[in-house]
Amino acid sequence: MAQLFTKDTQAIFWNNNASAIQRMLDYDYTIKRKTPSVAAIVAPTADAKFQKFFWGPDEIMIPLYKTTAEAKAAQPQADVLLNFASFRTAYDVTMEALELGGFSCIMITAEGIPERLARKMNQTARDAGVIVIGPATVGGIAPGAFKIANVGGTIENIVNSKLHRCGSCGLVTRSGGLFNELSNIISINADGIAEGVAIGGDRFVGSVFIDNLLRMQENPDVKYMLLLGEVGGIEEYKVIEAIKDGRITKPVIGWCIGTIAKHYSAGVQFGHAGASANAERETADAKNKAMAEAGIHVPASFNDLPATIKRVYESLNIAPIAEPEMNVCPKVRRSKQFICTISDDRGDEATYAGFPISSVALPSTGKGIGDVISLLWFKKQYPKWATDFIETVVKTVADHGPAVSGAHNAKVTARAGKSVVESLVTGLLTIGPRFGGAIDGAAEHFKYADDNNMTPAEFLNHMKKLGIPIPGIGHRIKSLKNPDLRVKGLMDYAAEFFPATPLLDYARTVEALTTSKKENLILNVDGTIGILMVDMWRALGYSEEEINEFISSGTLNAFFIVGRSIGFIGHVLDEKRLAMPMYRHPMDDILYDVQMAEEI
Ligand code: ACO
Ligand code: LMR
Repeated sequence: MAQLFTKDTQAIFWNNNASAIQRMLDYDYTIKRKTPSVAAIVAPTADAKFQKFFWGPDEIMIPLYKTTAEAKAAQPQADVLLNFASFRTAYDVTMEALELGGFSCIMITAEGIPERLARKMNQTARDAGVIVIGPATVGGIAPGAFKIANVGGTIENIVNSKLHRCGSCGLVTRSGGLFNELSNIISINADGIAEGVAIGGDRFVGSVFIDNLLRMQENPDVKYMLLLGEVGGIEEYKVIEAIKDGRITKPVIGWCIGTIAKHYSAGVQFGHAGASANAERETADAKNKAMAEAGIHVPASFNDLPATIKRVYESLNIAPIAEPEMNVCPKVRRSKQFICTISDDRGDEATYAGFPISSVALPSTGKGIGDVISLLWFKKQYPKWATDFIETVVKTVADHGPAVSGAHNAKVTARAGKSVVESLVTGLLTIGPRFGGAIDGAAEHFKYADDNNMTPAEFLNHMKKLGIPIPGIGHRIKSLKNPDLRVKGLMDYAAEFFPATPLLDYARTVEALTTSKKENLILNVDGTIGILMVDMWRALGYSEEEINEFISSGTLNAFFIVGRSIGFIGHVLDEKRLAMPMYRHPMDDILYDVQMAEEI
């Protein structure tokens, strides 16, 4: 791999570090990336499914996942892991990602991972061919393509340091702070950097100087390289070897900081865990001397580094880089309060999931209410067998006469002089676990039983323990002797048009058992709808997780709500048409069993 990152590189960001992510997205917008560089965020404790971020003046949603595995499964193209876990968790997160596979680069920001673990982690990554940047680093950047988190600082700083587009220096440092400083120096004295990595300040880091420089040697954008080492360790000598044996041929500028150490009487430990010389060879002076002897351009002091950069850069006669057009992120941005993912009224014609209303509403389109529901509820155009099923459900549950609880309530309310909407709502509020609203529960429990390979007897037992009647089983007036023909209609439709009905097949074995106990314990209309909807979604290719989410969000009862609204409105209009007086329930239909005051 000659280039660490490209303009298509996407990352999974472990830990919802919103300000760092926003900086990445501001960078993306500025350099006119097409896709956000963060494809997913792993936020183990968040319940939300996404987080909003600014994308220039607009906002986008980045999905949140609880685990790296889920994030990777959903965004397999994201092959960089930005591991922002704490030092306690960072090792496990990296090892899990290495186990999962599919990552080309893992950046670890935490400082202080125990050295034993860091060595094991780095070796596992090396064996797997995965580049590790860090631990204890701000990361790296491929200017004009992909920037890790906070590298380069604010967007103004980035543009000032020419980090918004590809230059010609390959930069490798240990320190993140000096990385930013050097980017700036290189932008002033040369044309900026082509790729830069701060390898991290811990004693045991993943990719070391030589790994990065060898890659840069292969990267055609890199014309020369700058290595900023520091006191401690022997990594610089590996670079010297590579120059000597011809693996590195591009010009290298080098400097090791920490030359001041000799002015102290005892060994000095600088800020980084690795920045301490354990032998003469590890001192900054020794390394600077060895680098110079190997032909590396080593300035006389850090202060002379800018002039060295200028000299080497100018000697290469690199053609000037055309400045690309950039987007400008607005200074003031307002976060939007509401999100809509189903319809859009901003154009000439409003759309349902992208379909102009006329393309689904007019009879000539051949589309029906099933299509409208599939677009507005599921943001998909379902195939005809599925939209026809949805329509069949809506029509089937539209009404079941005036005696059922919801219709009765709607009628009583209408007769109290209330409006259509008030009376309708009263009827709708009756829908629940016993009446019409057992569809979600039926789908949930039957699916659970089938998923867990329960026999009908085990399922009944399980529900008994839960202490709830099986949703979708039983009817007040329908029974084996007086079968519910609506149920037959739905089952006949499914038998003819569904690719398969495994959950219904299972539910019928349960029904055989319940009706053997009591003949009205049939699979009722709610149960049949709930179970067949699961079969429909499975046939449409939804994952079990998506189906479970439909169930838990109350999607299934909504089919009854839509259908029965038609009937309730009919009953309310009927009352109004008949100008029925206020209803009072006959007292002889009520058993009064009230104690006398003196008995209390
Ligand atoms: N699962 C297990 N046992 C049941 C169930 C059930 N779903 N429903 C009734 N039983 C049992 C009762 O435990 C009771 O047993 P017991 O005689 O040993 O005490 C017996 O059957 C009679 O119970 P009731 O509540 O009197 O039955 P009823 O016929 O009045 O109930 C009802 C009808 C409310 C629909 C009931 O079957 C039920 O709650 N079912 C689950 C909810 C449901 O599916 N509702 C939707 C109905 S369809 C619609 O509204 C559009
Ligand atoms: C309905 O559809 O409303 C019914 O199945 C309930 C009932 O009591 O008939």
